[in-house]
Amino acid sequence: MKRALSKDIEAAPLSYGSILLNRDEFVTALGELDSQTEIAPLRDMTSKLKRRVTLADFELSVDGHTNGGFVAVRRDVLSSELDQILESRTIERARYYVKRLERGINKVKTSKINDINLHRWKEHTDVITDSLWVLPKRDTNGAHLGWYWGNFIPQIPHQLMLRYTKKDDWVLDPFLGSGTTLIECRRLGRNGIGIELSSEVASRAEELVRREKLRHPTRTEIVIGDSRTVDTQRIIDAAGAKQVQLLVMHPPYHDIISFSEDDKDLSNAATTDEFLKMFGEVLDNVGPLLERGRYFALVIGDKYSKGEWIPLGFLCMSEVLKRDYSLKSIVVKNFEETRAKRDQKQLWRYRALAGGFYIFKHEYIFVFKKK
Ligand SMILES: C[S@@+](CC[C@H](N)C(=O)[O-])C[C@H]1O[C@@H](n2cnc3c(N)ncnc32)[C@H](O)[C@@H]1O
Repeated sequence: MKRALSKDIEAAPLSYGSILLNRDEFVTALGELDSQTEIAPLRDMTSKLKRRVTLADFELSVDGHTNGGFVAVRRDVLSSELDQILESRTIERARYYVKRLERGINKVKTSKINDINLHRWKEHTDVITDSLWVLPKRDTNGAHLGWYWGNFIPQIPHQLMLRYTKKDDWVLDPFLGSGTTLIECRRLGRNGIGIELSSEVASRAEELVRREKLRHPTRTEIVIGDSRTVDTQRIIDAAGAKQVQLLVMHPPYHDIISFSEDDKDLSNAATTDEFLKMFGEVLDNVGPLLERGRYFALVIGDKYSKGEWIPLGFLCMSEVLKRDYSLKSIVVKNFEETRAKRDQKQLWRYRALAGGFYIFKHEYIFVFKKK
């Protein structure tokens, strides 16, 4: 039997094969396990429970949240938790695992900065925790068309929001470009504000962002302006927020791509120092909107100029660290290979061999926490 999953049922975070458990019934079964004083009957009862669970014929393929009566659990994770009980050598250990499983079914434990249920952390295999992100393919679902040269892949804001925001939090992206961050906001039930200098780019972004189905009542606002000087108080008041809980910045990588002819555009800064000065002005203007104790992610790559590697990423990191932030992580993310790059691969390889340098294959995601 396939069951439709109501939006209100607490579910495993992803669409891995999940099983729908009657919460009370399952907790009672675990209570019986916990009341055992000998390991043999406890193992026997656990085996029976595991059989029931693995043979259960309801299969879920969407996520959702609790209605009190039912809870959706990832079948593979549940099965391995039961195995852990079965493999325990002592009754104390086995009962410890039973209690842990019961806590995961009955209670939700989250931190102040995200909605990850720490009692069921094993189910969140979709959340990256390593500092090397090798993301081979861009997410092209829904409104993510990838039309904008210089966009980032949707998985970046997606991952950042899973780690650093709760549902209904506010996210600010002062270099909005094609709206990738706001599309993800709508997908994940976060409110979002984007600022973009180019009115043409902003209006195309607006059109696409609105196209993304709103799965949860949230707001997404786009402001056309220079992030160094826009009136941030007016923006936040108009949006009906007090502060934002995540700042995502994906500035131009200086002049690697020229986004416009506008001299307010960071990609038109005459020198690296000028670029850093402009970047600092954005920080000073929008930074105060970020709530203390919350996170700021800066996505940026380096550049090569006149035979020298210019470490834009680390230079920008230093600008941030001159202010009220502490560094939490430096993530290295692979560059996807676009068709244009693939066509030029051999040429770049020749140039690298001849010129004594390495070809850029990565960019950075610097993660800061506001003090
Ligand atoms: C690297 S792109 C961001 C791309 C975006 N993450 C996406 O996925 O489409 C940088 C953007 O910053 C904008 N920009 C440059 N200077 C700006 C400024 N002073 N204020 C606001 N936006 C600016 C550019 O027009 C460009 O769209």
